[in-house]
Amino acid sequence: MESSENKTCVFSPGRPITIISNRAPYQLRKHFGQLHHEKNIGGLVSVLDEIMCQSGGTWIAWGEKGDIPEQVGIPLDRPRYSLRLIHLTDLEVNQYYHGFSNRVLWPLSHYFLDRCHFGSEYWNGYREVNEKFAKAFREGSQDQDLIWIHDFHLTLLPSLLRRDRPNLSIGFFWHIPFPASPVFRVLPWREEILRGLLGSDLIGFQLPLHAENFFQSVEDVVKVPVNRDSSSINYDGRIIRVGVFPVGIDFDKWNDLASSPPLAERARELSKEVGVENIILGVDRLDYTKGILERLYAYERLLEKYPEFHSRVCMIQIAVPSRTRVEEYRTLRREIDETIGRITGRFSKRKWIPLRYLYRAFAIEDLVAYYLAADLALITPLRDGMNLVAKEYVASRMQEDGSLILSEFTGAAATLTDAILVNPYDIEGLADAIHFALCMPKDEKHRRMKQLRCAVKDKDIYWWCASFLKSLAGEKEEN
Ligand code: F6P
Repeated sequence: MESSENKTCVFSPGRPITIISNRAPYQLRKHFGQLHHEKNIGGLVSVLDEIMCQSGGTWIAWGEKGDIPEQVGIPLDRPRYSLRLIHLTDLEVNQYYHGFSNRVLWPLSHYFLDRCHFGSEYWNGYREVNEKFAKAFREGSQDQDLIWIHDFHLTLLPSLLRRDRPNLSIGFFWHIPFPASPVFRVLPWREEILRGLLGSDLIGFQLPLHAENFFQSVEDVVKVPVNRDSSSINYDGRIIRVGVFPVGIDFDKWNDLASSPPLAERARELSKEVGVENIILGVDRLDYTKGILERLYAYERLLEKYPEFHSRVCMIQIAVPSRTRVEEYRTLRREIDETIGRITGRFSKRKWIPLRYLYRAFAIEDLVAYYLAADLALITPLRDGMNLVAKEYVASRMQEDGSLILSEFTGAAATLTDAILVNPYDIEGLADAIHFALCMPKDEKHRRMKQLRCAVKDKDIYWWCASFLKSLAGEKEEN
């Protein structure tokens, strides 16, 4: 493994960019009349922010209400680009974000059809908010900008923008899984969504499978021919390119943090405090797609089936609160609380707590300490577009030790083939996979982790941004 001294350079396409996303890169607050900004955590946001600082342009996103201006220069003290915030009413937030995005497109794309609520009021709100984003774009951005729209919240936007300005260069990245056509076709507004996306010049997905599902849906619903050889669609007199760009992380950042002596010390303290031979770690947003309950059942089964591990293992589950106003997320939280209560009640002994549960957000440094302390990461979503936690764990294991159990239904599994790949619905199989990982010889762990680290370093977040933007700008990839 190379040292991380040569930091990757941020790619700049040499022209302004307009990014349009649901979440803003910064939270703005007023304190005693003075405006302050705080960067939202997340590697992707940080790198996009770096690119915007180099290229200039506009970032349009949903912003807080209150007396925050609709447009500010970022950074506030020496502006490099404009942040345009769309203020939404409570009703709009409910219908567009909690409703259509999180109770229709999210469950549908993750194959949870029974959790979809196809309310037409959600659809109407979603359409109106996409129109609102289009209006903000019209008022602020230039024709020569490269436009990069992110994710399932804004699927109608490419066509809305193109309707007004046919010559724009529009890229769209779909961050979550794109479901198989028979699943996608369940959506009452399937055609509007696909035609919305087809306003783009380039549509990016995490995996070839997602791109293929999209092609099939376009054939089945819009009934236009797709060209799989050239990975393109001829629609409305234009050629739309479809590409695969798996999202990575800032490998060097995680590796460097993990190499810092204070964090190594914190990890040692944490291990001492937990006081077992093996810490098993799960880190997720609290979301039903993440398979937290199934993972807990598998851990319970491990303790039943392999009692020799009592007092020798502890599972730490970090769950970051998410979408807490959506009913399905509240119900899941209760079910997780109950399951954890049952397992700890059933197995705890005087000096041994088999399971620790932390329901809150963590700063990146704290996460690194947990990643360093964990002998095994258990990343078992039922479905996930990519899963960056798996990559963060790997990038933090700078000693090239530790094991990763990874769901085969994550995008990450396509490249992290040296992980122990599991079917997260198979509770017995998952319990056995944990047992297999706990018993794995050191050499084998080392061999696998070394390969995993190469894979994560090779296609990092800088590679992802550069390859998408180069493709959108029509430049050739060097490798
Ligand atoms: O992975 C999809 C995604 O919408 C991301 O864009 C986002 O960071 C994450 O899920 C969390 O969701 P939310 O923005 O709804 O909190």
